[in-house]
Amino acid sequence: MRVFQEMAVFTGNAHRDLAEAVCRHLEMPLGDCEVFEFSNEEVFVRYLDNIRERDVFIIQPIVSPVNTRLMELLIMIDAAKRASAGRITAVVPYYAYGRSDKKDQPRVPVTARLVANFIEVAGADRVLTLDMHAGQIQGFFNIPLDELTAFPLIAEHFRQKNLPAPVVVAADVGRAKLAREIAGRIDADIAIVDKKREGNTDHAEALTMIGEVEGRDCLIIDDEILTGGTVASAVRLLRTRGARSVRVACVHPVMAGRAFEVLDTSEVDEIVYTDTLPLVHGSFKKVPASVLSVAPLIGDAMHRIHTGGSVGALFR
Ligand code: R5P
Repeated sequence: MRVFQEMAVFTGNAHRDLAEAVCRHLEMPLGDCEVFEFSNEEVFVRYLDNIRERDVFIIQPIVSPVNTRLMELLIMIDAAKRASAGRITAVVPYYAYGRSDKKDQPRVPVTARLVANFIEVAGADRVLTLDMHAGQIQGFFNIPLDELTAFPLIAEHFRQKNLPAPVVVAADVGRAKLAREIAGRIDADIAIVDKKREGNTDHAEALTMIGEVEGRDCLIIDDEILTGGTVASAVRLLRTRGARSVRVACVHPVMAGRAFEVLDTSEVDEIVYTDTLPLVHGSFKKVPASVLSVAPLIGDAMHRIHTGGSVGALFR
């Protein structure tokens, strides 16, 4: 087995706090790297440390401004390749464009696949990510990919609350399996919301649901919150159906547009999310919010990748 020299961890401008937290967990310094834009918006990258034959990890969620951060990631991979890195792992805690994962109407792209191609062509040897929009996106890569999940952390957060009558609510039909898994961890029932999205707009509406929520303590789960429309609509439906309390949890708080305002004015008792990406568009003013850090999880996975350990064992 090829043994790579020591790890080297770098980040672009997407989420320095997370990269630093991962390095604290690993008890190693974050590498020195210049990543900036020229006045013509072209991105420039230069590693200030020697990375020849190193096991290089580039931590960069694809977050707002999405296309700039994606280019930073790709150019960092290219620069690492040209600096003779031994192996390059793209650590992408939030994989943007994940919702464009199939051709579900005529003449549209599959951008999640295109982004996978970009990362590969740039020169990444591996990818480490968390809770992608759809598991099938893994198959868009021809290099090894490890997909971690933060839902056990979220489940543990709610298990410790000992809610008297918990129901885990899938925000849409696609999350039904996930809802069942989380319900199993906290000994809850499940409910599933039937959501409709209008064309290619951001507007989502919860039409109806399967499951009993009257007098129950509901936990709506979703992979990401973007405009907040999906979740806010589900909250309204649950309240109409007599839910006693409604909590919301997601892994990726993209929180674009009026998302903070939308959720602050919803009847939500608590919102829980992780730090896979930074909150760049604002903060919650009314809803009690908790952030669960994925830095230890990402750090442990990177250590296992470096030493040839099992990443799956992290979840057993
Ligand atoms: C869609 O299927 C996803 O799982 C989320 O439900 C969606 O991205 C949330 O978007 P928004 O907050 O804009 O409704």
